[in-house]
Amino acid sequence: MHLKGKMALVTGGARRLGRAFVLALARAGMDVIVHYGHAAQAAEETVAQARRHGVRAVALQADLQEADEALHLVERAAESLALPQVLVNSAAIFVPGTLRNTDLDNWSRHFRINLRAPFLLTQSFARLLDGQPGKVVNIVDWRALYPGRQYLAYTLSKAALVTFTQMAARELAPHIQVNALALGAVLPPPDKDEAYLERIVQRVPAKRAARVEEITDALLFLLRNDYITGEVLLVDGGAHLVHG
Ligand SMILES: NC(=O)c1ccc[n+]([C@@H]2O[C@H](COP(=O)([O-])OP(=O)(O)OC[C@H]3O[C@@H](n4cnc5c(N)ncnc54)[C@H](OP(=O)(O)O)[C@@H]3O)[C@@H](O)[C@H]2O)c1
Repeated sequence: MHLKGKMALVTGGARRLGRAFVLALARAGMDVIVHYGHAAQAAEETVAQARRHGVRAVALQADLQEADEALHLVERAAESLALPQVLVNSAAIFVPGTLRNTDLDNWSRHFRINLRAPFLLTQSFARLLDGQPGKVVNIVDWRALYPGRQYLAYTLSKAALVTFTQMAARELAPHIQVNALALGAVLPPPDKDEAYLERIVQRVPAKRAARVEEITDALLFLLRNDYITGEVLLVDGGAHLVHG
């Protein structure tokens, strides 16, 4: 896909990695819809930064825990600027929990936000595109392929998102390619600092966290290539090789 002049919707696009995705797409010449949940001010800043690349950008709020809001987001995006040809499902939560201490609330929130929302968004995206070319990229985690003991509901929701990626790729071919980017450590969780990140990457073969451009380059690669679908691209510095 030639990205310049096309439209992308990035969920959770206001802050952190979502913002990096938005700005990489804007730099590539794409108009962008910056979806956000709570971060209204950050979303406006991201929109302003995106516009500096000479593209159109708007922010749209939706609580992706609510099925109705997820269901109508692509339609609202289409009404606010134009129908997106690219959907990046980046919004997620990452809350600890093992088999013993994961409660129903932790479980349900992960499945609603990390799995049900991408499903509903992809469904309406495909319906609205109605045979025109499109791309979906789901942001997952190497843990989805190599589960450990921690982050039970998170891992299961992302593992199901990997399976969803493969099923959607098959059903939506040939006009829509659906892929996943499986990340390792990039940014520390919002409640942790850089020292935490430094510690957890010591076992990773790359011996460091990913640079944000290494992640956004992988996104652009997947979007530009029309012959890759149903793929899960690990961009984790080899973290999956040393798990367990
Ligand atoms: N950071 C990493 O190192 C890392 C590692 C592996 C995988 N990943 C994956 O990469 C993606 C981005 O990571 P990140 O660290 O940048 O994510 P993040 O900061 O944890 O969250 C991304 C965004 O998700 C949105 N969100 C959460 N719940 C929502 C809800 N109910 N409704 C609407 N939006 C909601 C939030 O938007 P608001 O702030 O607007 O509420 C938030 O900004 C995620 O899918 C994550 O699992 C990240």
